[in-house]
Order: sequence, then structure tokens, then C-alpha cells
Amino acid sequence: MNNYFVIGNPIDHSLSPLIHNYWFKKYKINGTYEKRKLETKDLKNFIVEIKNNKNFKGANVTVPFKNKIIPFLDELSSVAEETFSVNTIVKENKKLIGHNTDATAFEKTLKENESWLLLKSLIIGAGGVTSSIIWAIRNLNRNKIYITNRTKEKATNLVNRLSTGLIGDEIEVLDWGEIPDVNLIVNTTSLGLNQNDDLKLDFKKYKNKKDCMFYDLIYNPKETIFLKDAKKRGNYISNGKMMFLLQAKQAFKLWTNVDAEIDKEILKIVD
Ligand code: ATR
Repeated sequence: MNNYFVIGNPIDHSLSPLIHNYWFKKYKINGTYEKRKLETKDLKNFIVEIKNNKNFKGANVTVPFKNKIIPFLDELSSVAEETFSVNTIVKENKKLIGHNTDATAFEKTLKENESWLLLKSLIIGAGGVTSSIIWAIRNLNRNKIYITNRTKEKATNLVNRLSTGLIGDEIEVLDWGEIPDVNLIVNTTSLGLNQNDDLKLDFKKYKNKKDCMFYDLIYNPKETIFLKDAKKRGNYISNGKMMFLLQAKQAFKLWTNVDAEIDKEILKIVD
């Protein structure tokens, strides 16, 4: 029996066990996937435990450990290194390798969308997943990316950490609330997880704008206030459901080499 985990805090809301256990059953793989709520101080022991557990094959990493787990890993994939963010661990010959399938999943969802999405972008937030979103957009184009975060300094630090010299022509850090003209606006903040959460940003100038996609990485609730308002204004909207499923699919492939299908059953689980 192969053991897999998702670690995070909070973790109750995670749908990853339902998805991966469904795929294990569907593809007749002898595996179990469980949630594990950890404190930061537990990370070291967790690593010792999985290194010693010969049945352990892999894990997912979620908030708030995507950066914090890195010092405990033996190697990083190039994307994990470039984003300093790990959401998937694979055990290979007793070594723990960190991967980032958030970034590649977001890149895939962008590729499947309208080509005008590849023009200018605005990213809201500077949290754990933001570097993956920047990576995905930059991997597809080198058009201007604006970033705005309530705490501006955090956005500046994040961009500088990605690569010094990016700030300027390629990425511009805006004051909180400054809204430029772009074709893709991604909410990467955690604001929206509660039904009444409202970023309180002024998007009036986007009224009836048909060439802008408002993308929220949150998929539960299905429509955050950020998305509801965009829909009312006549903009395109997308929630984070496809990105979530694609990151799971890519993690599953890394662990089992099976190209799992995002079938009707899976879509029902996430709905
Ligand atoms: P972490 O920073 O630990 O990775 P996260 O949940 O991934 O946490 O990210 C939180 C993001 O949501 C941050 O960009 C945060 O802004 P700050 O850097 O200013 O804290 C943003 N955020 C959380 N609550 C917010 C609020 N009420 N208004 C605006 N942004 C908020």
C-alpha cells in the first residue's frame, strides 16, 4: 500500500483526498491519501517520518507551508526553484523532490483561454501562490504584469525574490487600489473564502469591458464577490476550479505515471 498526504493548516476544507482516492480506485492503484494538519514546528518531524516510511510515495503541500517546506527537501524541480514554492513532493530513491504543479496548472488554464488573455495582466495579492501565477504568465508572454497588494512592500519583496531587475519594464508594483487597464485580473489573495469577503477595489472603469477576464483562484465559494461584481459589469469570469483539478492531475502523474482523467465524477466532487 502506497501512502500519500496533503499537509496544511487549515486543512479540513481540502478536497484533494476525495480526488486522489477516487483516482486510485479508478486506476486500480493500491494507495491511500490522507489529510494531515500540521504546525510549522511539526514540519521537521513530518519529514523524518515520511523519509522512514517505506510506503510513503508523495504528498501535496498547501497553505501556509508551500515556501516553508523547501529547506527540508533534497531537490527542487526547476519550476519549484524559480517560484520558491512547492505544492507536490515526490519520493524518489529515498530523496524528497519538491515540484510546483500550481504554476504549470495555471499556465495550462491560460493556454486554453482566449488569446487576448496574453496581453497585460494585474495580479492582486502577494501570498504563497502569487509567485506561481507570475511564473505562469511570464512563461507564456513577456507583456506587462502589474501587481498590487494591501501591503505593498510584500509585493516588492516577492518580485525581487523572483528575480532582481524584474521591477520596471516587466513588472510594476502598484499602490493598493490603483487599477490599470489590463486584459487579465487574477485574485490570488485569500479574501473571498468567506461569502461576504470583499476586496473593496474600484473596478468601475471595467464596466461592459468584454476584453477582460477576472480570474479568482478561489473555487469554493464558486463565485466570490470579486467574480459576482465582474459578471454584473459584463466581464468574463473564471474561478480556480480548473487550476485546482489540473494541479491535482499533474501531481497524480508525477506519483503514479498515470494520466488521470478529469471526468464527470471528479467535477461533481469539486462542485
Ligand atoms: P501567505 O502570505 O501566508 O502565503 P496567503 O493566504 O497565501 O498567505 O496570502 C494572503 C494574501 O491575501 C496576501 O496578499 C494578503 O495581503 P497582505 O500581504 O497585505 O496581508 C491578502 N489579504 C488577506 N486579507 C486581506 C484583506 N482583508 N484585504 C486585502 N488583502 C488581503
